[in-house]
Amino acid sequence: MLPNLKEAQKRTKNKVKIITDAYKVPEYLKKIGEGKTYHVKTYGCQMNEHDSENIKAILEDMGYSYEEEIEKADLILLNTCAIRENAHNKVFGMIGRMKHLKEERPDIIVGICGCMAQEESVTLEIMKKHKHLDIVFGTHNIYALPFILENRIKSKQLQIEVESKEGDVIENIPVKRDSKYKAWINIMYGCDKFCTYCIVPYTRGKQRSRKMEYILEEVNDLIKKGYKEVTLLGQNVNAYGKDLEEDYGMSNLLEEVAKTGIERVRFVTSHPWDFTDEMIDVIAKYDNIMPYIHLPLQSGSNRILKLMGRRYTKEEYLTLYNKLKEKVKNCAITTDIIVGFPNETEEDFKETLDVVNKCKYDGAFTFIFSPRIGTPAARMEDLTKLEDKNNRLYELNELINKYSNKANQKYKDKVVKVLLENTSEKDENMLSGYTETMKLVNVKADKKYIGQIVDVKITDVKTWSMDGIMVEK
Ligand code: SAH
Ligand code: SF4
Ligand code: F3S
Repeated sequence: MLPNLKEAQKRTKNKVKIITDAYKVPEYLKKIGEGKTYHVKTYGCQMNEHDSENIKAILEDMGYSYEEEIEKADLILLNTCAIRENAHNKVFGMIGRMKHLKEERPDIIVGICGCMAQEESVTLEIMKKHKHLDIVFGTHNIYALPFILENRIKSKQLQIEVESKEGDVIENIPVKRDSKYKAWINIMYGCDKFCTYCIVPYTRGKQRSRKMEYILEEVNDLIKKGYKEVTLLGQNVNAYGKDLEEDYGMSNLLEEVAKTGIERVRFVTSHPWDFTDEMIDVIAKYDNIMPYIHLPLQSGSNRILKLMGRRYTKEEYLTLYNKLKEKVKNCAITTDIIVGFPNETEEDFKETLDVVNKCKYDGAFTFIFSPRIGTPAARMEDLTKLEDKNNRLYELNELINKYSNKANQKYKDKVVKVLLENTSEKDENMLSGYTETMKLVNVKADKKYIGQIVDVKITDVKTWSMDGIMVEK
C-alpha cells in the first residue's frame, strides 16, 4: 500500500479506534530471526526514538538479536525523519551506502520506516531509484512488521506498506527501552495544528490521545521496574484529551502522573496555544514535575506567526512566558526558532531577536526554514536570499549562546540533583546525567551510583554542559 498526500491531510469526525490486539506474532514467525541480528538507526525526534524502541521489541519477539554495528547486522532499519531537507539528505546518503553493503552481502534485509516513508514523493523515488531496498513501512504500520518481513522473505521483493490515514491508537505494541532509568511514554499521537511549514500532520495522522488509564498503568509498571523518570510525549501535549469523550485534559493527566510518586515527570512538546493556567498550577504544585519547559516560539513577528498558522501573537507568547517564570520556581525554558520563513524581512527577524532578548532562554534549537512538499509554506513564493537566511541564523545563534551561557553560569558552585545515567561520553572516568532543569552534567562519582538521583556540586560551567562532583549525603 502506497502513501497518498491527499489522504494524509484529510481530517474527519470518525471516532478513533482503540485497538488492544492489533499486534501479534504467530508461532511460526517467532523463530524467523533466530541466529540473525538487527540494527535500527533513528533519525528523528523523541517520538521517532520511542517508535524505534517498539520496533526493536518486535524484532526480538521474532528471534532477532541486537547488533551494535550497523554494517554487521542481517536486518537494518532506518527510522527516518522528514522535518527538514537535511534529515532527508542524510537518509538518502545512507540508502546509497546500503546499496554497496547489499552488493557485498546480498542476503541482508534493509528497510525504511518512519516519517519519510509516509511521504508520497519519497516512496515513489525509492520505487524508481532504490530498488535494492527490501521493505518500506509507515508510522501507522509498525504493528504489522512481522507480516511485512514474512512477505519480504517469501517473495524476495520490495514490500511497501504505508497507509495514509488518520490513525488508530494501538495499545499492545511491545517496547524495548534504551534506558533502565528513564522512559518515554506516548500520551498522544499525530497533530491537527497544521502549522503551514510543517510535515508532521501529514506523516503522523490526526491528533489522538491515549486514555488516561493506559498511561497510568504504564507509569506504574515503570515504577515497579525501578524507573526514575518518565517523559510524556506528544506533538502538542497541552492539547491532551481534547479529542476524547472523557472529561479530562493535560492538567489532570499531569497531576495523576505526579501522584503515582515517580521521581521525575517531564513532558514535550508544549504548544503555547493550549497552555492553560490549570496546567501551570499543577506544574508549580508538584515537586516531581520537573521545572523545565520546551516552549517553541518559531518567530517573534506577528506577521510571520500568522503566516505560519501558529495562532498566538508575540505579546501572548510573552505573557505566557512571564507567567511560567513567575509561578514555576527556577523554571528553565528552551525554545525552537525558524529563521527565513518565506519573505521574512529584517524587521520580522528583529522581532524574533527582541523576544530572545526578553526571554533569555536557557537554550534553543534554531533552524532555517526548509520547504516540505505538500505544505502551504512550500508553495509560497520566497524572495529572501539564502545568504541573508544564513546570516540571520548565525546572528540568532550568537545571541542564544550568550543567554544559554549566562543561564548556566548561575549554577556555578550550586548543589543540584542529577539523575546519573551512564558513563560520560567525553571522559570514561566521569558519569553523566541531567539536572531537574535539563542541564547536562558530567559528574565525578562512583559508577555504583548509576541509576540514582544524587546531589552534585557544580564546579565548572560551559555553554553546552557543566562539570560537577557528587556530594555524599
Ligand atoms: N510539535 C512541536 C514541533 C515539532 S517539530 C511544536 O509545535 O512545537 C520540531 C521543530 O522543527 C519545530 O518546532 C520547528 O521549529 C522545526 N520545524 C518544523 N518544520 C520545519 C521546517 N519546514 N523548516 C524548518 N524547521 C522546521
Ligand atoms: Fe508541526 Fe505545528 Fe503540529 Fe508542531 S504543532 S507538529 S510545528 S504542525
Ligand atoms: Fe521528524 Fe516525524 Fe518526529 S518528521 S521530527 S520524526 S514526527
